[in-house]
Amino acid sequence: MTSSHAADRGTLLILNGPNLNLLGTREPEIYGASTLADVEQLTTAAAKAAGFSTTCLQSNHEGALLDAIHAARGTAVGIIINAGAYTHTSVALRDAIAGVELPTVEVHISNVHKREEFRHHSYLSAVCNAVIVGAGVHGYELAVSYFAKTLA
Ligand code: DQA
Repeated sequence: MTSSHAADRGTLLILNGPNLNLLGTREPEIYGASTLADVEQLTTAAAKAAGFSTTCLQSNHEGALLDAIHAARGTAVGIIINAGAYTHTSVALRDAIAGVELPTVEVHISNVHKREEFRHHSYLSAVCNAVIVGAGVHGYELAVSYFAKTLA
């Protein structure tokens, strides 16, 4: 008899961009009290429960995020990305996501549409499969659940 193993559905790359290392202390009225470690832990737990493993990376550097997306090709089955402020500026991240052709979910902790005008546009959304905004850190779990439902 076969039994399923925790990681047999493959790896989800969990990418967090600039300033998300400050979660927990950064504008808590907007981003809440959870730290980046909490976010990575809850996302990994949700992924594990759904049969995925995770690779988690946070960087304040656009190039490091690009390298991680490139490295995901062939090693990950999907990407969950909160690109922070690069969401609103980076054609390069958009091209990387489009280039690796992996299913990708864009997450924002805050509801960017309720905030400043410059946060309303995302360069990434048009090349992502789903966008989750304003659900707090629960958005990362919702992204895992998207992959749990849509990936074989
Ligand atoms: C954010 C929203 C962005 O506008 C902002 O620059 C961030 C965090 C969010 O998770 O709500 O750094 O991506």
